[in-house]
Amino acid sequence: NVIYRADYQAPGYWIDSVELSFDLDPAKTRVLNRMKLRRNLDAAPQPLRLDGEELNLARVLVNGQGTSFKLEDNQLVLENLPEGGDSFDLEILTTCQPAKNTKLMGLYVSNDSFFTQCEAEGFRRITYFLDRPDVMASFTVLLRADKAKYPVLLSNGNLVDQGDLADGRHFAKWVDPFRKPSYLFALVAGNLVAREQRIRARGGKEHLLQVFVRAGDLDKTEHAMNSLMASIAWDEARFGLPLDLERFMIVATSDFNMGAMENKGLNIFNTKYVLASQATATDTDFANIESVVGHEYFHNWTGNRVTCRDWFQLSLKEGLTVFRDQEFSQDLAGEASARAVKRIEDVRVLRTAQFPEDAGPMAHPVRPDQYLEINNFYTVTVYEKGAEVVRMMQTLVGREGFARGLKLYFERHDGHAVTCDDFAQAIADANPDSTLARLLDQFKRWYSQAGTPRVRASGLYDADARTYRLTLAQSCAPTPGQDVKEPFVIPVGLGLVGADGAELASGMHVLTQESETLTFENIGSEPVPSILRGFSAPVILEFDYSDAQLIALLAHDTDPFNRWEAGQRLAVNRALGFIRDAGVAARDIRLDPPFMNAMRAVLRHPTLDAAFKELVLTLPAETYIAEQLDVVDPQRIHAVREAMREQLARELAPDWEQAFEQHRESGAYRPDPVSSGRRALTGMALSNLCLAARASGDQVWPGKAYQRFKDAGNMTDRFNALAALVTSGSELAAPALQRFHAIFKDEALVLDKWFALQAGAPDRGGNVLPAVKQLMNHPDFNIRNPNRARSVIFSYCSANPGGFHRPDAAGYVFWSERVLELDAINPQVAARLARALDRWKKLVEPLRSAAREAIARVAARPDLSNDVREVVTRALAD
Ligand code: ARG
Ligand code: ZN
Repeated sequence: NVIYRADYQAPGYWIDSVELSFDLDPAKTRVLNRMKLRRNLDAAPQPLRLDGEELNLARVLVNGQGTSFKLEDNQLVLENLPEGGDSFDLEILTTCQPAKNTKLMGLYVSNDSFFTQCEAEGFRRITYFLDRPDVMASFTVLLRADKAKYPVLLSNGNLVDQGDLADGRHFAKWVDPFRKPSYLFALVAGNLVAREQRIRARGGKEHLLQVFVRAGDLDKTEHAMNSLMASIAWDEARFGLPLDLERFMIVATSDFNMGAMENKGLNIFNTKYVLASQATATDTDFANIESVVGHEYFHNWTGNRVTCRDWFQLSLKEGLTVFRDQEFSQDLAGEASARAVKRIEDVRVLRTAQFPEDAGPMAHPVRPDQYLEINNFYTVTVYEKGAEVVRMMQTLVGREGFARGLKLYFERHDGHAVTCDDFAQAIADANPDSTLARLLDQFKRWYSQAGTPRVRASGLYDADARTYRLTLAQSCAPTPGQDVKEPFVIPVGLGLVGADGAELASGMHVLTQESETLTFENIGSEPVPSILRGFSAPVILEFDYSDAQLIALLAHDTDPFNRWEAGQRLAVNRALGFIRDAGVAARDIRLDPPFMNAMRAVLRHPTLDAAFKELVLTLPAETYIAEQLDVVDPQRIHAVREAMREQLARELAPDWEQAFEQHRESGAYRPDPVSSGRRALTGMALSNLCLAARASGDQVWPGKAYQRFKDAGNMTDRFNALAALVTSGSELAAPALQRFHAIFKDEALVLDKWFALQAGAPDRGGNVLPAVKQLMNHPDFNIRNPNRARSVIFSYCSANPGGFHRPDAAGYVFWSERVLELDAINPQVAARLARALDRWKKLVEPLRSAAREAIARVAARPDLSNDVREVVTRALAD
């Protein structure tokens, strides 16, 4: 039952309105669903097939009368419906069991409250429906529940009535003024409290904003509320898109499969992306909350007002909305240098997570052509690469042109379910003279072709002619099901940097052919090309830079992204050299003075931001290094990277001390980019000083780290100090961990950090796996809670390659057991974990065979979910 994009057909029926009445009970909830339907006269006459899963059907009435029906694999089929185009009533009564819903799709219970998650296909677990995004209905929702246990009853739209019922129950009636597809439905019932804020929008309309949490968490909602207000203001200012609801609600739950969900007027969030106080959340948490709150809010226009025709179009809303949340965070960051830091962080995610996806067995285009389970396609490709595709459009039409394009998109498609083609067409049509409009068909290959393009650049300087010729050649390797790739439209930000650091030329070249050569005139001496500035396209850029050229770019490039990139290239080149040089033990690795000096110069630089320094001094991730190799030995990569880190720690010790002293006090806590950057660099310095002390056995810095851990006034400093002790293997790690647990034993999100730190710690002689198994026996561990499962199991299997890829294959055995265990509880979480071995084919023997065996063991199980089956089948395919 693979589903193909090419098979799309308009629905045979429309649902104009739906009235849902819920009698909420954890063991058995009654759902009465009264719909008004009519045939879609543009489609062939056909039976009505309503989706439904794990429902107990009690009654079906058509126009008030009993009717014949069939139940066929998760569909309710009605054949004897009124002919013609008139509307008819359909009433369906079902029950479901929210307390038993461990998949967290549909209606479920978390901490004694009810929540829903309907995207993509969860609504069918609540009632029978045409559970597809192109069927949009007006929703009226009546909620009834015990008043003492569930004092708060929420659904989409406006509260129109509420009151008491017999037997200690009460009710609330909600009407959503906007038509919407079923995946945007939501309800919440529980004992919750809200932070409230009234705002007056530009037009003068009043809005009520609410952030609902459990009673003890109210003091951690200020940042989320501020982020929401900033989001509303930003969307008005940048794109002219106002809040269209009287009431906008955010509700936090600690059991959630993903980050958050943009249900119309009632966003439901993982607590991780709502709750923050300086005592419990790090700077990264604060930044993530800002961007996820923004993301879900921006979906109100890009996703809800205009939605997807079918799930293959997912990037229509997700790529665009990630782009919007990235732009939002950049605009809030303010200064150019802080914007650049955000850009570098986003690119780092793309390259460490999406590039491997694009090169592995799950590779798929931004607009996929087929799926077995749509939940497997909420991916970094659809989200982050999709955002890069939108960003390239903005690059090709300019910022104003893009805003014009978005305006046209809403003029054409507001209230409709559309496709990625419709979006690209609107941006192009609003900019008829743009490169995008001219090359639209070719540009759209970014939606249809999977795989990361490579741009191979080479330069030729002619001193006599005073010219520099730069040749750019593109290619893209085959991906599963796509053997041949056609050339992409690749905007390439360019600059030429002179030997003295002066900028000799700059601009944007749009590469469309397989190979093109540019000639720069009047160039007095051999320049260093700065290519793909700002990471202007999601491609792999190859250029044989000399060390001297990279050092020059690191020192002088006016483009901060390429400045950072030059440092990364210097480090990757060294790492790859050491890794290939199998004769040299990791502890004997020697970094060369030019590299050391370049890194020292950045660290000492008088004007560079602390945040930028921290990014430059952070060595490329092990997974990023692995992608540069054909055969991967994760333990060798880990050992080499750790050895490089240790050497940087030891040889730059005086500079780390200096950086620590200079930035250790960041003043009253504020999670802004400048002070966050200072804390990040301080944390790095402390970590390096502890690492350097490890070799010498010196206790001064571990002692200082312990002190800082104890005294820190915020979680960022406290956690960084703890991590410094843990990752350097200090004897003080154990007492610090114990103390940390004692302080935060009632703070679930902080305990997640505590678990994750230990499961992700650098492996020393195979010590991490036994520690992970012990953590799973800890009374605070609970595999049913996705955050907790991720903090232990994923931190080990997906984020700790050195510890996971054990020569004895025990890591893989552990992985296969956990995939199966989770699959019986929550297939979505299991399928994410299944992807930890995506890149098994690159592994060095005997890891490769052992990994294949582990995957095959999972694949051999007859009772797998579609989610896991799709992942392991693809992994084993050749
Ligand atoms: N639309 C949500 C977001 O990106 C994600 C929901 C994904 N849910 C799922 N079950 N796959 O904001
Ligand atoms: Zn989204």
